[in-house]
Amino acid sequence: MIVMKVALVQFAPEFGMVEENLEILEQLCADLRCDLLVLPELCTTGYQFRDRQEASAFAEDKDGPSIKRLAGIAERCGGALVAGIAEASGDQIFNSAALINSDGVLGWYRKVHLFGTEKDCFDPGDLGFPVFDLGEVKLGMMICFDWLFPESARSLALAGAHIIAHPANLVLPYCQNAMITRALENRVFTITCNRIGQEERLPDQRLSFTGRSRMVGPDGTVLTEGPPDKAALITWFINTDRAGDKQITASNNIFADRRPDQYRFEK
Ligand code: ACM
Repeated sequence: MIVMKVALVQFAPEFGMVEENLEILEQLCADLRCDLLVLPELCTTGYQFRDRQEASAFAEDKDGPSIKRLAGIAERCGGALVAGIAEASGDQIFNSAALINSDGVLGWYRKVHLFGTEKDCFDPGDLGFPVFDLGEVKLGMMICFDWLFPESARSLALAGAHIIAHPANLVLPYCQNAMITRALENRVFTITCNRIGQEERLPDQRLSFTGRSRMVGPDGTVLTEGPPDKAALITWFINTDRAGDKQITASNNIFADRRPDQYRFEK
């Protein structure tokens, strides 16, 4: 049996205040010990970039100063963390999630399904949905709007993920409940870490982020949920073996019962 202590930190990053946002995270996590910590999408920079040039000015690669600070948080927590950051890679900029431990970046996920004005600022993700080893536990990542595309979580589950870390900056009201289905239909743990607060950096585009960060178990049980409008550090213990069991009735296995020959995809 593998029991992990997992955590998330929901807060309101201030746009452009990278140092201050990292300080807030360091303070919120000061007494935290855990195996895995999940942070929101674009948690160091804030969300609503005005254009690609602005996103580019904030984007960092694996040797960037924010990554070093996040690695320090991971080290103090004694585990790994998943943080949403703006990633620079040559001329490209991605809305990414970095898996980080005390040594630095262990792996990247680049958001595949860009939402709204993100399309003006970021390149679409090009790494697919990779899965990473945390000891014997397999971790996948997806970011915010990826939830709407069941193929995202399904790709991760088929690749063996026990846990899906899901940094988010949710503005629509649907995802929190939808994650019950994403967890259940794949029999995985999901950790959606959403932000709170508001941003209005583009004319007539006021965004209100919905909080209610959620962890859901492989049977669709909501394990724990954050408030809609307050910062919160939430921890939970999970037995990851439960996500290895794809049997949902005595005669139904959610993977073995799939019928890909009967499914029709455009591509
Ligand atoms: C979103 O994908 N940040 C809504």
